[in-house]
Amino acid sequence: MRGKQLLFCLLTMAALTASAQNKPIKKRVDSLLKLMTLKEKIGQLNQYSGRELTGPASNRKNNLLNDIRSGMVGSMLNVKGVKDTREIQAAALQSRLKIPLLFSLDVIHGYKTVFPVPLAEAASWDMEAIGQSAHIAAKEAAASGIHWTFAPMVDIARDPRWGRIMEGAGEDTYLGSAIAKARVLGFQGKKLGATDAVMACVKHFAAYGAAVAGRDYNPVDMSEQMLHEVYLPPFKAALDAGAATFMNSFNTLNGVPATASSYLQRDILKGAWKYSGFVVSDWGSIREMVPWGYAQNLSEAAQYAILAGSDMDMESEAYKKELEKLVLAGKVNSVLIDDAVRRILTKKFELGLFDDPYKFSDFQREERVMQDKSHAAIARSVARSSVVLLKNELNTLPLKTGIKKIALIGPLATAKTDLASTWTVYADTLSMTSVYEGLKEKYSPVAELTYAKGCNLNDQDTTGFKSAVELAGKADVVVMVLGEAGDMTGEAKSRTDLSLPGRQEALFRAVKATGKKIVVVLMAGRPLIFNSIAQQADAIVYAFWLGAEAGHAVADVLSGDYNPSGKLPVTFPRSVGQIPLFYNYLNTGRPISKEGDIHYRSAYMDSPNSPRYAFGYGLSYTSFDYSNLKMSTDFLKKGQDLTVSFTLKNTGEYTGEEVVQLYIQDKVASIVRPVKELKGFEKINLKPGERKIVKFVLPASQLAFYKPGAGWVTEAGAFKLMIGSASDQIRLEQTFNLN
Ligand code: GLC
Repeated sequence: MRGKQLLFCLLTMAALTASAQNKPIKKRVDSLLKLMTLKEKIGQLNQYSGRELTGPASNRKNNLLNDIRSGMVGSMLNVKGVKDTREIQAAALQSRLKIPLLFSLDVIHGYKTVFPVPLAEAASWDMEAIGQSAHIAAKEAAASGIHWTFAPMVDIARDPRWGRIMEGAGEDTYLGSAIAKARVLGFQGKKLGATDAVMACVKHFAAYGAAVAGRDYNPVDMSEQMLHEVYLPPFKAALDAGAATFMNSFNTLNGVPATASSYLQRDILKGAWKYSGFVVSDWGSIREMVPWGYAQNLSEAAQYAILAGSDMDMESEAYKKELEKLVLAGKVNSVLIDDAVRRILTKKFELGLFDDPYKFSDFQREERVMQDKSHAAIARSVARSSVVLLKNELNTLPLKTGIKKIALIGPLATAKTDLASTWTVYADTLSMTSVYEGLKEKYSPVAELTYAKGCNLNDQDTTGFKSAVELAGKADVVVMVLGEAGDMTGEAKSRTDLSLPGRQEALFRAVKATGKKIVVVLMAGRPLIFNSIAQQADAIVYAFWLGAEAGHAVADVLSGDYNPSGKLPVTFPRSVGQIPLFYNYLNTGRPISKEGDIHYRSAYMDSPNSPRYAFGYGLSYTSFDYSNLKMSTDFLKKGQDLTVSFTLKNTGEYTGEEVVQLYIQDKVASIVRPVKELKGFEKINLKPGERKIVKFVLPASQLAFYKPGAGWVTEAGAFKLMIGSASDQIRLEQTFNLN
């Protein structure tokens, strides 16, 4: 009899589970919500960092575990690996309602396999490569128990003094929006819940990249028009791509901390944009309302944050400590708490965590995915396409195989850890390939590779110059690898001086005096200022930070095994004095006619207006011809799309990829418009002599601009259409009229 009873119970449980699993998620959320106490609801809004949890026993660790066991924690960050996530999830399942935790991590440019930093990947203009990079990162993170990454960072940045420019897609709204979409789709895949995908988190909402003077955490002040036209569209593109979560930002926007801004989080994000996911605060940003002088104390900060639509509290403990009292005092309506909890529980159900809380924490999958050798090959391919060729006099590059002796000089030539820059969460730097190792593999033993450091990255010691100069004197060609240290960009890494730190430029001049041909490889997470190198080097390659496969990628480019195809996603200024400097500037009422025309003109007495290198600029080992521009009409009706075509031809000797760029200028409007705006691009691969007719369809919506009080509008009048190989290299242009 007992066997039949047991079977009946098992079958009943299975049926109940199955029926629960088949119930719509909304119903499952509502029925769970009804069971929750106010304390348990607030627990779901609380996120802790797990740094202390995975270390040795400590009071903090015991307190954290007790909170987790009593359902006072909804999510953890900085816990990774199947072992640790299983242990901590088990603690959460001891709580009364057994609500599983979300595990999150800053998987910004790879998990175990370190990919190029986001700004480098942006230089590839290759949405497929960028999507692949995000997918591999998600696959490795998800195999390690992670449900949620704090990426993509989509902050438009026009100020290279700001160290976090490295984490985003550069200065342009159109390119930044395309990359935001590619990254969200790469991280999340087709549907949440797959164990090779993670939730994306679009950050930092909003306008964090416009921090005054490029100083991190500084205030942001801007017009409604600038906010909506330049800084918000990448967030909207990410949302339209299905982004599961958002993160707010540390900055104030026009005097209100973003974390307390119901204009940003309720009016725009959850209101106009109808966002149904949840918003996590940035680390401690709720608590930071007090030093901002916006809240008198933690209780007020908690009140302002929940009222403004900040659903989850990262590491302030403001909600855990203050929300229950605020609700009981009638200062916060429990409806707001329920809304935030619903948003968070919905994601946990969508991930399938209630059906299997350990589904992302599988030891066998973790081992298999981490061993996957295909990831390095993809990282190498993404890295190569992120390299930008800035200069190549007399075809110094590619380094011909006939070369017998290459002198490799510079403090970054053998660098490994630097190649990962910051926001690497797992990197075993020994797996990194340095430029030295990459060139050695590529050229030895046919060519001899000698090496001298020459100087350190960031001090005044020049004692290494002599041996470097001697080495250069004996070589056929010199390759110098210079730049910043890898940890000089990222969070809280603002600089007022963007030149190469230490005595690197002096080392370059000393080696230059030998008269040898010099190829300079520059590595950094931001645009640097290097005017003497720009003028005197024979060839310059900007490699940003390319991650684990940097050495192989640089060697592939220098050898010509890969023809560089990158284009700058951000303007490179000649001096800090020019900042902020960007390509889509306004013409002013006194534009210069040419450099040097400064007489009562909008110009400097001591510098050209033009940048050192322009947005969209990058050379190739081959050359491309643009011809035969055609448009579907010269008189466009409102709402009508414009079809544009032109012929692109590879007129050189190498197969190569060209990023063709489509810009427009709205010549006259009721809010003055930039001299040009990127509204289309395509990366095209052509063999020598091959030609292709390139087609763009310019949607009518791309002619619109944001007008306060009216929203997005288009106005009749003349437009200029431009096709360029860079923002300052327009190859074809034609005007059309919008009626
Ligand atoms: C940091 C960063 C944010 C990151 C978060 C968690 O302060 O601003 O980008 O995702 O905290 O590490």
